[in-house]
Parts: sequence; C-alpha cells; structure tokens
Amino acid sequence: MTARTVLEVKNLVMNYEIKAGMVSAVENVSFSLPQGKSLGLVGESGCGKTSVALTLLRLQAPNARILGGEVLLDGENLLDLSSEEMRKRRWSGISMVFQGAMNSWNPVYTVGDQILEAIDLHWDPKPTAAKARAKIVELFGLVGLNPDMIDRYPHEYSGGMKQRAVIAMALSCDPRLIIADEPTTALDVIVQEQILAELKKIQEQMGMSIIYISHDIAVIAEITDLLGVMYAGKLVEVGPTVEVFARPRHPYTWLILSSTPSITGERRQLAPLEGEPPNLLDPPTGCRFHPRCPFATELCVTEEPPLAVIDDGHSVACWHHEKVPVGVRSGR
Ligand SMILES: Nc1ncnc2c1ncn2[C@@H]1O[C@H](COP(=O)(O)OP(=O)(O)OP(=O)(O)O)[C@@H](O)[C@H]1O
Ligand SMILES: [Mg+2]
Repeated sequence: MTARTVLEVKNLVMNYEIKAGMVSAVENVSFSLPQGKSLGLVGESGCGKTSVALTLLRLQAPNARILGGEVLLDGENLLDLSSEEMRKRRWSGISMVFQGAMNSWNPVYTVGDQILEAIDLHWDPKPTAAKARAKIVELFGLVGLNPDMIDRYPHEYSGGMKQRAVIAMALSCDPRLIIADEPTTALDVIVQEQILAELKKIQEQMGMSIIYISHDIAVIAEITDLLGVMYAGKLVEVGPTVEVFARPRHPYTWLILSSTPSITGERRQLAPLEGEPPNLLDPPTGCRFHPRCPFATELCVTEEPPLAVIDDGHSVACWHHEKVPVGVRSGR
C-alpha cells in the first residue's frame, strides 16, 4: 500500500528582490513527501535549502517574492491562505526546528510556560490546564528531558537541553510535517547524534513526515527515506536515499558524493567542489550546473533539463544522466 502524500510542492519559484535585481533562490522546485517519511535536502551553501523551507512555512524574508507554484499540505495550497489561516496551520499542520532556535527562548518565562503558550494558542479546543501539563510531560519524555525541567528557566538548560526543548515545542501541536533546518549543527557531535536519533524515533512513533536540511551527509544517509539534492536554487535530483547514494544520476550529486570519502563510520560533511556556485542574480542559461559539469554539451548551455523520472521514484534534471558512471567515484 502506498502512503498518503502529506506534502506536494509543485513548480515553486521564489526570488529575493534586492537593489541589483532579483536573486533566483528557488527555481521551479517540485517534490512530494508521503506520510511518515523523511526527506533530506542537501547541497552547497547558498543553493536555496533554507529558502525552500521558509517558503513552505510562509516565513520568507520581507524581500522574498513567491512568483509561482503550489505548496499542498494534505491537498490544501498554503500559498492561497490568508496570513491568519496560515498562522493556524503553523505548529499544528507544519512545524519547524531551526538551527538558532535554542537561543530564542525568552529568559523571563519558564520553558514549560512557553510551550504552554503554543499549546493554548494552537489547540482547538483549548485544553484544560491538566491536559496541557500532561502533554508537556509526555513531550519532555519523548525528547529525553527530565519533567523537573518544565518549570525551570532557559538559563538553567544546557545548549543540548534547550534544543531538545525546541523539538518538544515543535511537536506540541501534533504536526503532520516538521521541517528541521540544520537542527543540531550548533551542538557537539555526541549531543547531535543523540538528538537526531531521538527525532527519528519520535517521527516513527508519531507517523509524522520530516524534511531535514543538513550539510552532514552521514546523518542524512542514516535517517532519511528520500534525498533531494539542490544546486543553485534548483532541485536537480530526488529519489530514495539508498538509491541516490548507490546510483547518483546527476553529475552534481555524483561529484559531491564522490568528494565525500565515506558515508559510513566517521561523520562526513559535504566537501567543497572545484569552482564556485553561480551568482543567483544572473544564473547560467540552460542547466545551471553546466559551467562546472564534466559532461556538459552545447545542449546544456541552451536548454534547461526538466526534472524527469528515470526510475521508480527517482528523478533527475540532466540531459546526460546516462553518462554519469554507475557508483560513486572512488574516494581520496
Ligand atoms: N533576504 C535575502 N535577500 C537576498 N538574497 C538572499 C536572502 N536570503 C538568502 N538570499 C540568497 O539566496 C540564496 C539561497 O540562500 P539560502 O539561505 O536559501 O541557501 P542555503 O542552501 O540554505 O545555504 P546554507 O547551506 O548556507 O544554509 C543565496 O544566494 C543567498 O545569498
Ligand atoms: Mg540554510
């Protein structure tokens, strides 16, 4: 039985308006995510991962212009909602954990009171005090925090504990989808691994869908079902994580995975590739990767390759995907 689709993003286009012109940060991005599954988004810095996340949540910067596309959450286009309706979908429909979120706790209230506020605002009907308290106790258990911490202030928490509490807050309204953008990068490696393992466990228990954004290929390989690779504002490849790792079909995916010596064992970050990602004020014509691509031809300079299905659930936007060697080039 195939799982229900929770999120379907269709042809999403978002630019940032700046003095010098329009920055093409999200260009024609489409993907879908079944219930209970997780999608990793990877790509070099500045390729548009956070821009996609913020646009899905409608939390994009004031100079962001959504120029087209649809963001369907259970079939409802979030881009059509009023800001008030969107506010109601946040937390309960689609929730988020951001990298810096652990620093956004208000120092003058206890962490429990701040989670309570989210519950009071978003639960419909509003729960009794006892029910809300029981929920917070349950959430603290899920994220590995002692319930004694509920009535403590943020300064009594360590960094890892604050980020666990951020995850508890993100879960407080039983969201169908969580977007986690570099949720643990500010923490030390051991704490990161513990928190990510717990997040995965919670996701499985609660049947939520998750989008993980990370530079850490090893983490993505371990915890996601699907993998999307972004380059210069475009989603260039998406498919089952094991399949994309085993048989990357886009030259960019192949190169970034090849420059990552090992995806098992030691933690591996995305290694930088030769050359620079393009300036998104004036991106290359045709395929945006053509100036750095070893397989590029004239066609790649003039025609934009569509994201086309090449295998079950595996899509790639490349005119020459059959030229990409099978398997990852042997490491350094
Ligand atoms: N408010 C803004 N105004 C203008 N340009 C912006 C704005 N926010 C981001 N950008 C640009 O949009 C592009 C995509 O940025 P984004 O932050 O989405 O990338 P990212 O993949 O999340 O990068 P990182 O891995 O470094 O977090 C970059 O070129 C960035 O400089
Ligand atoms: Mg980012």
